[in-house]
Amino acid sequence: MKSILVTGGCGFIGSNFVRLALRRLPECRLVNLDQLTYAGNPRNLADIEDDPRYRFVHGDICEAELVGRLFAEETIDTIVHFAAESHVDRSIDAPAEFIRTNILGTFTLLEAARKAWLANPGSQLPVPENCRFLHVSTDEVYGSLGNTGFFRETTPYHPRSPYSASKASSDHLVSAYHHTYGMPTLTTNCSNNYGPYHFPEKLIPLIISNALEGKTLPVYGDGKNVRDWLYVEDHCQAILRVLEQGRVGETYNLGGNNEKQNIEVVTTICDLLDQKVGRLPDGHPRTDLIRFVQDRPGHDRRYAIDASKIREELGWLPLVTFEEGIRRTIDWYLGNLEWVAAVRDGSYRDYYEGMCADRLNGG
Ligand code: NAD
Ligand code: DAU
Repeated sequence: MKSILVTGGCGFIGSNFVRLALRRLPECRLVNLDQLTYAGNPRNLADIEDDPRYRFVHGDICEAELVGRLFAEETIDTIVHFAAESHVDRSIDAPAEFIRTNILGTFTLLEAARKAWLANPGSQLPVPENCRFLHVSTDEVYGSLGNTGFFRETTPYHPRSPYSASKASSDHLVSAYHHTYGMPTLTTNCSNNYGPYHFPEKLIPLIISNALEGKTLPVYGDGKNVRDWLYVEDHCQAILRVLEQGRVGETYNLGGNNEKQNIEVVTTICDLLDQKVGRLPDGHPRTDLIRFVQDRPGHDRRYAIDASKIREELGWLPLVTFEEGIRRTIDWYLGNLEWVAAVRDGSYRDYYEGMCADRLNGG
């Protein structure tokens, strides 16, 4: 049985991944180490929390003693590392936590893996051939594109926000551990995700929740910045594919081939909500709620991924078009208004604290 340590499994992509991995890998045991920052919501995994192949551990990836203990206790042979501070705007307001979690946290995990997998090859611990350290990263490490061109795995790094600089730094550490110590690493650099359990500070879930509540819809700058949207389930499938078939030491770019200007995304959401739940109470369309606001400092203009390497080497393709994915996403939010309300009013923080405090330390 494989023993997988997932970090940040209570976040947006991590929770989608945990659910998919338990379904797709019947022979795996999965340990989810999550600090439950504001972005971590254990309710995201309420439907699988009693699965005997799953264990939740409340903790910080920067705590070397805890991480080392988990490696030993669970004989971890695989890491899928999602845990990070992930929101660009927060990194502009308060970068310190991004440096700590994204850089020091990744370093702590790499050190734990090095000690467990590489220092004692003669011990009972798994040998490196069975082990994988999969680092989940972002296309933002490459910087910003003009009107043409795509990010390839060979594109030079040029991060431009504290968030992307911290992710770039973690990518370099992962690469260095492969080259220096032979760590069996895999890195994925992915474009913007969207789908169920997306925290409503990010563009798509923020616009859906505000538009439902009749609140204003903030669009930064001229609204013409472009992102390449990938449905979260396609991203999780790609991670499994890389884990199972990726070449050790390689990086793989993942994208949805769905380039959209922000204003296009926002108007699409408004139009779909008007169709699905009716216009605003005063009869106006939801697009009337759009407000162009001050731009994000250093706002990257365009991201677009060339995903031909993973397509040609591993046969992965995104299956969900933006038109289909955005409908599914809106339907998920409409079907989970309680989840949205609990996140918006902060009561999601009580879920474990109040009801299941005894499980917090992995009991
Ligand atoms: P998220 O913010 O929704 O979730 C992050 C999770 O990490 C939360 O559960 C949080 O509690 C946990 N966490 C934070 N600091 C921690 C720490 N010190 N110790 C343990 N757990 C901690 O993030 P997401 O959007 O799901 O992104 C997951 C990963 O994917 C990140 O590494 C991000 O850089 C990368 N990524 C995200 C996107 C995207 O569009 N969301 C795209 C490409 C790559
Ligand atoms: O490209 C991958 C990255 O995508 C991930 O690495 C990050 O973790 C993830 O947060 C995301 O970063 P972005 O900055 O692209 O996502 P965000 O949803 O914050 O913004 C998307 C675009 O929408 C961006 O151009 C900024 C704009 N925006 C965002 C918000 C929150 C607005 O116009 N208004 C808003 O209120």
